Amino acid sequence: LGLAAAPAAAQPFPNRTVTIVVPFAAGGPTDTVARLVAEAMGRELGQTVVVENAGGAGGTIGAQRVAQARPDGHTLLLHHIGMATTPSLYRRLAYDPIGGFEPVGLITEVPMTLVAKKDFPANTLAEAIAVIRQRRDALNYANAGIGAASHLCGLLLMKAVDTAMTTVPFRGTGPAMQELLSGRIDLMCDQTTNTTEQINSGAIKAFAVTTRERVASLPNLPTSAEAGLPAFEVSVWHGLYAPKGTPAEITRRLSQALQVALRDPRLVARFAELGTTPVAQDRATPEAHRAFWMADIAKWQPIIQAAGQYAD
Ligand code: MLT
Repeated sequence: LGLAAAPAAAQPFPNRTVTIVVPFAAGGPTDTVARLVAEAMGRELGQTVVVENAGGAGGTIGAQRVAQARPDGHTLLLHHIGMATTPSLYRRLAYDPIGGFEPVGLITEVPMTLVAKKDFPANTLAEAIAVIRQRRDALNYANAGIGAASHLCGLLLMKAVDTAMTTVPFRGTGPAMQELLSGRIDLMCDQTTNTTEQINSGAIKAFAVTTRERVASLPNLPTSAEAGLPAFEVSVWHGLYAPKGTPAEITRRLSQALQVALRDPRLVARFAELGTTPVAQDRATPEAHRAFWMADIAKWQPIIQAAGQYAD
């Protein structure tokens, strides 16, 4: 009588498989990062962590899926700089691209490279720009849709050289790389996590890396500033998100597991081979991630507005 039902004992977390949704195709740069993170986080959490690819529409299909998932920490999103550009690029989305998520922690910042098919008629950035200006929209530039890093990098490049190319969208730069290798695509700007091995094997050409410093895994590749185009600078940060409403203690536990995963020697070694490094531990927290994400939304908003390229 008058006794309230005892609250159900809190379920331990995680109590089943955790799914990390990658909003791009398998075999591409986001997928590569996610699989390394999933494996290392799974060891720390004592549960299987699987990666599911939900590519398309520049990352918005996979992001929507997580924004609408049950907020219990078992469905997560691993996304990149597109989380900062999508709110400005899309006028209408079926989910809230900012308020729909709880940041868990930052993961890495990946340099980009301007790459071309093997027989592209240029060997330096200056020569490549001359070809772009001359052949313009006869050239096919691959990207992973509006909101992709390859899309943003293409915007910066076309603005820097004041020339438009024909853009060909893919569900991710994993499949786009196959088309570059086969010569059906001329140019692409993509993350070192997807291009390093193809550049070093000579399967594709590379003209510049889009960061201030050269990348250790591609020591002969000049920076865009060294190659004469300092405005062409961007790196692709990645972060982990839970759906809005995920309990803070679960987000905190996920962040701790992420911090451990980012120190995993296998992950660190593979990141290095692919031209990147994990962020410092104090950036893999919900607070640091949120602050960085909000600042990046503000940074890209006027650049995207000036480029005047929106999706509906
Ligand atoms: C991917 O994983 O396919 C990429 O991150 C695509 C991109 O953003 O360019």
